[in-house]
Amino acid sequence: MRRKLVVANWKMHGSLASNQALFEAFKQKLAPIKNVDFAVCVPYPYLAQAQSLLAGTNIAWGAQNVARYPVGAYTGEVSATMLKDFGASYVILGHSERSTAYCESAENIAAKFMMVKEAGLTPVLCVGETLQERESGVMERVIAEQIDELLLTKGGGVFANAVVSYEPIWAIGTGLSASPEQAQSMHEFIRNRIAGYDAEAAQSVCILYGGSVNPVNAAQLLVMQDIDGGLIGRCSLDANDFEKIGQAAAFATQTGGAK
Ligand code: PGA
Repeated sequence: MRRKLVVANWKMHGSLASNQALFEAFKQKLAPIKNVDFAVCVPYPYLAQAQSLLAGTNIAWGAQNVARYPVGAYTGEVSATMLKDFGASYVILGHSERSTAYCESAENIAAKFMMVKEAGLTPVLCVGETLQERESGVMERVIAEQIDELLLTKGGGVFANAVVSYEPIWAIGTGLSASPEQAQSMHEFIRNRIAGYDAEAAQSVCILYGGSVNPVNAAQLLVMQDIDGGLIGRCSLDANDFEKIGQAAAFATQTGGAK
């Protein structure tokens, strides 16, 4: 049975003062929510703050990017072992806001994924299609290409206990979420594709949905068979909204939405 996972993606938001208030609110509101895993992915400079305020709680923390190399003359980069030094557990990779703005190739993202795994951290690999790709019916091929980079070069085993986040680009930050059926169908497609290489890994991979998740649509999305949780942007900057999404995950678990 896979546990639900709800990850906050704070993107480039926050300050020491506003984070402190949000961390304290998260701690208080999420503590009573059982059988759900939580994480907050913060901008790099706030990892130490996350570590000092979240250690010992039911909320893990992580980053939103990592270097593809372990160490060396890579000005401006941050390695996976540095993230580990600050107690990070999760690293978001390949988010479309990065891959589009900084022209990240699938090969580059796959290299980062392997770095994260080698450091003993959990990669959160984002995949997604544009609206045009969905409307022209090629979305499955597009998603397949994004995960095949790893499947073909490393095999399916690398997805064991990893996290994949299906984030249709047209749904991110737009208020326009995928329907539960659209998301379920793509999650099933991703799981089946991984199963084609490694059936066991396909059962353990945690597949999140991301893109305009809010307290209202979370309840419908999180009960779907292959939706193992959510990657939450805008609504993770509001402790009440994030709490409600966490509660929806717990409710889905209780009512058998999780396997
Ligand atoms: P959103 O962002 O919830 O604001 O749509 C999701 C994401 O980009 O991870």
